[in-house]
Amino acid sequence: MQLRQFFALGALAVGLTYCAPSTPPAPAAAPEEPTLKSAFAGHFTVGAALGAPQFTGQDTAAAQLVAREYNTITPENVLKWGEVNPERGVYNWEAPDAYVQFGEDHNMFIVGHTLVWHSQLAEYVKEIKDPELLRAALKEHIDAVAGRYQGRIDGWDVVNEALNEDGTLRKSVFSDVLGEDFLTDAFKMAEEAAGPETELYYNDYNMWNADKRNGAIRIINKIRENGGRVDGVGMQGHYSLSGPSIDTIEQSIRAFADAGLKVMITELDVTVLPNPWDLVGAEVSQNFEGSPFMNPYPEGLPDSVQTALAVRYEDLFRLFLKHSDDITRVTLWGVNDGHSWLNGWPIRGRTNYPLLFDRQNGKKLAYERVMALKK
Ligand code: XIL
Repeated sequence: MQLRQFFALGALAVGLTYCAPSTPPAPAAAPEEPTLKSAFAGHFTVGAALGAPQFTGQDTAAAQLVAREYNTITPENVLKWGEVNPERGVYNWEAPDAYVQFGEDHNMFIVGHTLVWHSQLAEYVKEIKDPELLRAALKEHIDAVAGRYQGRIDGWDVVNEALNEDGTLRKSVFSDVLGEDFLTDAFKMAEEAAGPETELYYNDYNMWNADKRNGAIRIINKIRENGGRVDGVGMQGHYSLSGPSIDTIEQSIRAFADAGLKVMITELDVTVLPNPWDLVGAEVSQNFEGSPFMNPYPEGLPDSVQTALAVRYEDLFRLFLKHSDDITRVTLWGVNDGHSWLNGWPIRGRTNYPLLFDRQNGKKLAYERVMALKK
């Protein structure tokens, strides 16, 4: 090889070496598919209520879906009084511990549901007739449960469903024995046990109903006047295809925000099945179990109903986006259609389709329409 050629090759080699960093980069990784939590980031968190199989490793497909799509979780049952504290001094910590651990493993906003509720309540509480004893039992329960997860559970439904539809106080062991004061007691005890960083909520259904909404604002103002802290209100969103209207839901969102409350849509699902209470002349006590008329879609949802469900969800999320300055969280009540409590309530053994994911954890048309709002 001639000397000149040798130098030319050397220069080429140096040139190649020099050029190396600017060689075309490897093809970029495909952009990550948006998910509910990424699409609505900056507006509100999006979550689901989890049943035990979904955080104890029994239903890993649903758990993966939850980790992918959601950034907040609520326990469907395991923290209710009757479940976590069925007898005085007896606590079932295994499932709630696993629930909280699941939320921490996935960096989620962890909700506690619920400290004081007339339903799914331990029997021993219902038998207490003396105010001092009931207050002591309330404190013991709240100290134990909210205290155990101080700094780990981020927000508590302190009181659930304390109101009648007309806004008056619901009859329960708590209101019977302690009167309206049990509300202030519960919020003060929760603050003490859960600590100043934990958000405290009042949660109820049919909060779109003006009477009930006004009742909620009244009791929250009273709790506050008495020195209790209430940070937010949970509007359980157990809706149907046709009601309540977007307008009435909006009026309540505005009213709660005006009262200085964070607003959360806490138990969102949309039933597609007939409601026994809508049937003129139907006896609520009538047994509709096994009635094909009340269970019209056991083999699958007709396209027309699937579309109606998608439109309904789109309308709801459009409203939530419009008020995202006031709405901090939207939580669906369940992960997929197969898991939803609405297959068993108010009539057992039906096939309902109320959520954004189908029985195989697949995305429904409703999911696509909700996501399209952010495209
Ligand atoms: C439901 C659960 O989803 C069911 O598994 C259970 O059998 C009954 O309770 N309002 C609430 C929730 O605040 O706790 C309820 O959850 C649904 C209505």
